[in-house]
Amino acid sequence: MDTDNAEVWPRYALGQRIVHWAVAALVLGALALGGTIGWYGFEGLQERFGEDTTDTIYTWHKSFGVLVLLLMLVRVGLRLRHGKPAYAVALPPAQRIAAESVHGLLYLLLIVMPVIGWWATAAGGYPVQLGPLILPGLFPENEALSETLFAWHQIVGITILVLALGHISAALYHWRVRRDGVLQRMTFGSPRR
Ligand code: HEM
Repeated sequence: MDTDNAEVWPRYALGQRIVHWAVAALVLGALALGGTIGWYGFEGLQERFGEDTTDTIYTWHKSFGVLVLLLMLVRVGLRLRHGKPAYAVALPPAQRIAAESVHGLLYLLLIVMPVIGWWATAAGGYPVQLGPLILPGLFPENEALSETLFAWHQIVGITILVLALGHISAALYHWRVRRDGVLQRMTFGSPRR
């Protein structure tokens, strides 16, 4: 375990905190753009915003998703290397189990989700994009499979949204109600209470 100022306030290692907030921003961006795509559909987007903006929305969505995948792999490595800091105030067992379950599921789904998006895109014959780069499709074209995978992409997307809302609510509860230093394990300011 590697903690910053552990004697004052146990925290995640700096790299873990940076990657956490980068992933959080990218996932919110991917959900917002994916939700817009899901809401309007491809043709609806083109009618409402025009072809160029539609292409931009798809490109940014895919790029955010690919970056989530890359950063999650870095994040797993950092977690294996640094572990997790101790809690300043021990959590009640039910809260600890709930937190560990949500964190575990988020780790899993934030790796599975971009892989499904990548696979569905490649199977549909569409480009897998990271900004201006076209990445290798890696998976063979298969239209029926692509449709099934996009349906799963939607289901897993809604699941991630629900988990993220629970995660954010819990963080706010620890910060404003319990005031037990749990949120500060992941922040950058002064480690003092
Ligand atoms: C954490 C990562 C990701 C999240 C949270 C996410 C989320 C979403 C959501 C919520 C939708 C709307 C689904 C619907 O309502 O039908 C969507 C659509 C889509 N996603 Fe992702 N996505 C991620 C990664 C990726 C990646 C890596 C790719 C491809 C490289 C990708 C490609 C697509 C495409 C092409 C659509 C549109 C499907 C259609 O036109 O029906 N996504 N995504």
